[in-house]
Amino acid sequence: MFAARRGGIAVVRPSFRRADRLAWCTILWGLSLQQFSRSSTLALRVILVAGPLLAILAGTALAYAGSWSDWANRRLAPIEQPVPFSHEHHVGGLGIDCRYCHTGVETSPFAGLPPTQTCVACHSQMWIHAPMLEPVRQSWADQKPLQWNRVHDLPDYVYFDHSIHVAKGVGCSTCHGDVSKMPLEMKVASLEMRWCLECHRNPERHLRPRSEIFNPSWKEPADQLAQGRKLVELYHVQKDQLTNCSLCHR
Ligand code: HEC
Ligand code: HEC
Ligand code: HEC
Ligand code: HEC
Ligand code: HEC
Repeated sequence: MFAARRGGIAVVRPSFRRADRLAWCTILWGLSLQQFSRSSTLALRVILVAGPLLAILAGTALAYAGSWSDWANRRLAPIEQPVPFSHEHHVGGLGIDCRYCHTGVETSPFAGLPPTQTCVACHSQMWIHAPMLEPVRQSWADQKPLQWNRVHDLPDYVYFDHSIHVAKGVGCSTCHGDVSKMPLEMKVASLEMRWCLECHRNPERHLRPRSEIFNPSWKEPADQLAQGRKLVELYHVQKDQLTNCSLCHR
């Protein structure tokens, strides 16, 4: 504590220099000696020592649980859209194939998003007047595309190509999760470099038969490694080149 005299009045300025904190600790410790019975003294001391320790431990555990990094790269958080389009309804409920809307996914680097016409094909007959479809009607009337907000967005210096992954046995749900259970689309993978590399080093851990690529609920078989190794052979996966920097940074 710092006390100064100004015009005869003692002004106590709270300041928390190291010496002060030390003083406070000593006072508390001393109090615990004088005022209380043995058992409560012990309890107080345990709290004094264990409290801050527990707080630090809890903080570290939280950080490790990854909640901070998930928040930081917007993982597992649905993103606002002009229309609350639900994969759960359209894929899970109606069973529409990914390629009906993401037409580029087998043939080009980009999966692409559907034009308004794709929605109108069905919604000019059903749910025509639903208020939540107003932006779709507006977009159709004005012939202006809907402005979807991107859920996944790699930095521009990274090259990515959907068609090669799909052709070599990497299914949508390996990277995007089970969209048939998502009322709103969200990101499940970090898309960080080490995430790409984990698979590029050991693709056999993740490959599936081509017939299952678009199945959002596909589960790895118990002998995934053995099956995956067979698929590496069958699909001629170029394992040895998959960690070259220039593959993704061109
Ligand atoms: C009826 C059309 C339709 C079908 C079928 C469909 N999607 Fe979509 N998808 C959309 C629309 C519209 C968006 C943009 C709005 C959004 O992000 O929810 C979208 C967005 C996405 C995104 C996020 C894009 C971004 O911004 O990063 C992914 C990933 C995706 N879809 C995967 C799939 C997969 C996998 C399937 C098949 C299992 C599928 N979709 C089937 C219409 C469809
Ligand atoms: C193959 C037909 C079909 C296509 C294509 C289609 N929808 Fe739908 N949509 C439906 C049906 C059927 C329902 C009613 C689903 C239900 O209630 O189970 C629906 C419901 C909806 C709903 C309200 C219910 C909800 O929460 O899902 C919205 C919003 C919607 N669709 C948006 C879109 C948009 C945007 C597109 C274009 C990207 C689109 N739909 C493409 C058939 C379609
Ligand atoms: C190897 C991982 C991987 C697989 C497999 C994959 N995606 Fe993607 N997807 C991504 C990445 C990464 C992005 C972001 C690309 C970017 O920002 O340039 C993305 C973006 C998208 C987008 C946003 C529009 C676009 O073209 O960028 C849609 C839609 C999409 N994916 C759908 C699908 C569908 C459908 C499948 C299965 C047929 C699929 N993806 C398979 C990693 C994957
Ligand atoms: C789950 C596995 C998996 C993940 C995750 C994955 N990849 Fe791949 N990637 C593959 C496989 C398998 C190939 C095909 C190798 C071959 O050419 O035989 C491939 C090939 C590629 C190619 C070569 C394309 C070409 O034209 O030769 C690029 C570029 C690429 N991946 C980028 C990425 C990036 C960037 C990410 C992360 C955002 C990523 N990949 C995540 C499995 C994966
Ligand atoms: C399979 C694809 C892939 C390969 C191979 C790859 N990178 Fe990356 N790299 C990425 C992605 C994806 C990002 C973006 C990471 C992010 O947004 O967090 C990235 C980001 C970076 C960055 C930006 C800094 C950072 O960490 O955010 C540097 C530098 C970099 N990579 C260097 C390299 C070097 C050097 C190699 C070769 C040893 C390499 N990369 C190989 C996918 C790849």
